[in-house]
Amino acid sequence: MAALDALLAGVRAGQGRTLMIEGPAGIGKTALLDEAGRRAGGLMVLRATGGEFEHDLALGVVRQLFEPMLWRATEAQLARWLHGPSEIAGRLLGVGGSDASVHGLGIDEAAVRSGFYWLAVALAEDSPLLLLIDDLHWVDLESLRWLLLMVRKVRDTGISVIVATRAGEPGVHGSLLAGLARLPDVELLSPLPLSAAGTDRFVRTWPGFEAARTEFADACHELSGGTRSCLQSCWERQRGWAWGQVARARRACELWCPKGSRGRCCSGCDGWDRRRSGSRGR
Ligand SMILES: Nc1ncnc2c1ncn2[C@@H]1O[C@H](COP(=O)(O)OP(=O)(O)OP(=O)(O)O)[C@@H](O)[C@H]1O
Ligand SMILES: [Mg+2]
Repeated sequence: MAALDALLAGVRAGQGRTLMIEGPAGIGKTALLDEAGRRAGGLMVLRATGGEFEHDLALGVVRQLFEPMLWRATEAQLARWLHGPSEIAGRLLGVGGSDASVHGLGIDEAAVRSGFYWLAVALAEDSPLLLLIDDLHWVDLESLRWLLLMVRKVRDTGISVIVATRAGEPGVHGSLLAGLARLPDVELLSPLPLSAAGTDRFVRTWPGFEAARTEFADACHELSGGTRSCLQSCWERQRGWAWGQVARARRACELWCPKGSRGRCCSGCDGWDRRRSGSRGR
C-alpha cells in the first residue's frame, strides 16, 4: 500500500512513474490494482486487462484503455486530444475521422504507437493520468510495444502506469515482458502471501467468523500457504481443496463448525464425505 500511495502522490505532483506488480496466481495483484483505482481520486484513470484468448487482437489493450474515454468525449475535447501525431489514434479507433486497421492499410506501426503515446500526453495535459493494466502476460504484441514506448517516456510526461503480471508465466511475449521489467524506471512490487498472523486477521473479517478460533486460522494458513485466492475459496466454500488436502480441510472445518453441523459446513467436508461414501460403495 505504501508503494501505491507513493506512486499516487507522485502522479498528483506531476511525476511519471511505473510500478510492476508481479506475483503468482491468486496473490492479490488485481486487488491491488482495484485499490489503486479506489485511491486515485482526482486523477484520470484508464484501465485495461489482457485476455487469455485475446492476445492476438492487435492493439486490444490500447483500445480498452482509450476507447471509452474518446467515445464519451465532447467535440471540443476530441479536437484538443486528437490533432497532430495523435490524430492517427483517433482514426484507428474510428473517432473524429475514418476507421482503419493496423495491418493491411499501409499504416506505419511506429506512427501508431507514437500516436497513442501523444494521445496519452494530450489527456494528461487535462488531468494527471494513471494507466492500470492487469494480466500483462496476456497483452497483445502491439499494445505491449506501445507500453514499452510509454514506460520509457513517462518520467517526462507526468503519466503513471501500474501493471500486474503473473510471475513465472512466460506469457505470449515473454521476452518483451522481461525487457519491460528490466527498464531502469520500472519499480517492481512482489506481494507476499499472508503470514499466519495476517491470515488470522483476514479470517476474522469473514462474516460469521469474527470469533474464529486461532486453530481454525492456523489450519487455513496451512492449507492456503497464505495465498489470498485459496483463502477466498475456503470462505466461499465452493471449490473445495485439492484432493490430498481434504482431510486437513475437514480438520479445519471441524474446528470451526457450530454444534449440530459438525463436519458438514463446507465443500471440504462434503468432498471428504463423498469420497468416504464412494470408497465404501466400491
Ligand atoms: N488484501 C486482501 N484482502 C482480502 N482479500 C484479498 C486481498 N487481496 C486479494 N484478495 C482476494 O483474493 C482473491 C485473489 O486476489 P486477486 O484476484 O487480486 O489475485 P491475482 O493475483 O490477481 O490472481 P491472478 O493471477 O489469478 O489474476 C480475490 O478473491 C480477492 O478478493
Ligand atoms: Mg488478477
